[in-house]
Amino acid sequence: MRHCIYPGTFDPITYGHLDVLGRAAKLFDRVTLAIAPSAGKTPLFTSAERVAMVGPNVAIFPNVAVVTFEGLLVEFAMAQKADAIIRGLRALSDFEFEFNMALMNRHLQPELETLFVMPNEQFSYTSSTLVKQVAKYGGDVSNFVPPNVAEALRRAYPQNR
Ligand code: COA
Repeated sequence: MRHCIYPGTFDPITYGHLDVLGRAAKLFDRVTLAIAPSAGKTPLFTSAERVAMVGPNVAIFPNVAVVTFEGLLVEFAMAQKADAIIRGLRALSDFEFEFNMALMNRHLQPELETLFVMPNEQFSYTSSTLVKQVAKYGGDVSNFVPPNVAEALRRAYPQNR
C-alpha cells in the first residue's frame, strides 16, 4: 500500500488543491490530506472549519482521509507510515520555496520523498489569499472554490454583500 501525505494550510481549500489531490489519489493507494493549523500564517478559518469544508469535497475519493497535524511534517508523515509527501507546483514562482522545503524535509528525514505534480494550468494563478481577497470585496469566487467554501466565505465577509 503506497501512502502519501498532501500537506497544506488549506485556508480555504480551492479547486487547485482538489486538482492536486485528485492526481495524488490516482497515483497512491492512500492519500492523507493533512491540514496545518497556521504554518506561520493567520488563517481566516479554524482548523475544524477547514476540515469540515474539505470533507464533502473529498467524498468522491474513497482513498482520501482528512486530518490536522501539529509540529514537523516529516515526523507526522513517519508516524503515519507514509511513503511520500506530495505538493503541487503551479508556476515557476512556487519552485524555490518548494525546493527549499523538500530539501529541508529530506535533510530531516532522508527516507521520505517529496513528489511534485502540476495542477491544471487554469489554476496556476489561484491561491487561498487571492480567493479570500476577492471574496472579501464581494467578488465572485465560484470558479475557484467549491460551493460550500464560497458560502463559508460569504458568511465570513458579510459586510460587502
Ligand atoms: N491550487 C491553489 N492554490 C495553491 C495550490 C493549488 N494547487 N498549491 C498551493 N496553493 C497556494 C495555497 O492556496 C497557499 O496560498 P496562501 O499562501 O495564499 O494561503 C499557498 O499556495 C501555499 O500553500 P500550501 O500549499 O497550502 O502550503 P502552505 O505553505 O500553506 O503549507 C506546510 C506549508 C504546511 C506544508 C509547511 O509549512 C509545513 O510542512 N509545516 C509544518 C512544519 C514543518 O515541518 N516545517 C518545516 C518545513 S521544511
